[in-house]
Amino acid sequence: MKIVLVVGARPNFMKAAPLLEEVKKVRTLKPVVVHTGQHYDFEMSKVFFEDLGIARTDYNLGVGSGSHAQQVGKAMIRLERVLLKERPQLVVVVGDANSCLTGALTAAKLNIPIAHVEAGLRSFNRKMPEEINRLVADHLSSFLFATEPSAVRNLLGEGIPRKKIFLVGNIMIDTLMKTRSKAQKSKILQRLGLRPNAYALLTLHRPENVDNKTAFQNFVEVLEDLQNEITVVWPLHPRVKKMAVHFLLWRRILTLKNTVVLPPLGYRDAVKLMLQSRFVMTDSGGIQEETTALRVPCLTLRETTERPITCEKGTNEVVGFKNKRKVLRAVRKILQNNWKKGEVPKYWDGKTAKRIVGILRNQFGL
Ligand code: UD1
Repeated sequence: MKIVLVVGARPNFMKAAPLLEEVKKVRTLKPVVVHTGQHYDFEMSKVFFEDLGIARTDYNLGVGSGSHAQQVGKAMIRLERVLLKERPQLVVVVGDANSCLTGALTAAKLNIPIAHVEAGLRSFNRKMPEEINRLVADHLSSFLFATEPSAVRNLLGEGIPRKKIFLVGNIMIDTLMKTRSKAQKSKILQRLGLRPNAYALLTLHRPENVDNKTAFQNFVEVLEDLQNEITVVWPLHPRVKKMAVHFLLWRRILTLKNTVVLPPLGYRDAVKLMLQSRFVMTDSGGIQEETTALRVPCLTLRETTERPITCEKGTNEVVGFKNKRKVLRAVRKILQNNWKKGEVPKYWDGKTAKRIVGILRNQFGL
């Protein structure tokens, strides 16, 4: 049985790696990896293949940057050719980036069954491109693999039959657990002259935050206040640097004291920085989950989360991006050691890929 796995953006790679490894163990399964090429810089793509031990991709569709229609349109045309040539029995899509929508739509039009890993998450904000991608992928999929119970409830609420939905846990935690010991060897702290527990890690990339001048400027003010409280380590996503320059905020960012601005990091360095940080501030979905699994305090710089379990059970709290006082209040609570300890959700145990492959073998009688 041939399975095409579609990836394209940074957060896809850590979700695809464990699945690929598990599929390769089964003699009757043949994986074909397609990279849409949405992320193409070494730091946004190739470094992850090296860090995660993904040997190679079978196809790179080379779509590059562009508007959503350009990215998805180009990728669909090119993916259709691959699917017609390879004739897989299943297409697997992961997460919520444009590659997920591309894989699902192209496969559905060719009547190829689809599995969506990380199904059912909802921010209930259709202005987020990822929400549209999730909705479409879920409604076109035959196998919906969910990370947390709220996702199962969302899918049932949207009328998706229970027999298509499988609560399997969080595949990214498979990768995180495998990387943890390798990450210990990363020398990133020494390289940056940082002491464990003495800095906060910051990541930003959401268009609704950094493409909005007032919101972004407001957050730079938060950083101006924070510089007197704790060192902030900030690996910059390419979009953020571009927007900071565009909004004339770049110089202000570079003059911040106690703030270490870095290029995007590889996975091992990122995990090491997360593990040793006092806390993390982020608008990423995946990092909310990783910090919960590592039990590191996390402040989510957004108005909502599609991953509510990280707040209900884990170490995460949604503090928004615009309310300076709310962010600073949460930071002080952490610095005063008043933060919740959190617990790791069920099935976030490093065995999710095994469960998924087990279910697929069972369903396809392999
Ligand atoms: C995408 C995903 C998002 C995911 C994020 C992780 C969608 C809709 N969004 O957003 O869900 O959390 O990836 O990073 O798919 N760029 C480079 N080098 C690259 C890639 C991009 O410089 O290798 C620049 C481009 O100029 C582009 C900007 O970064 O304008 C943003 O890239 P884009 O492909 O639009 O998506 P992300 O914002 O990264």
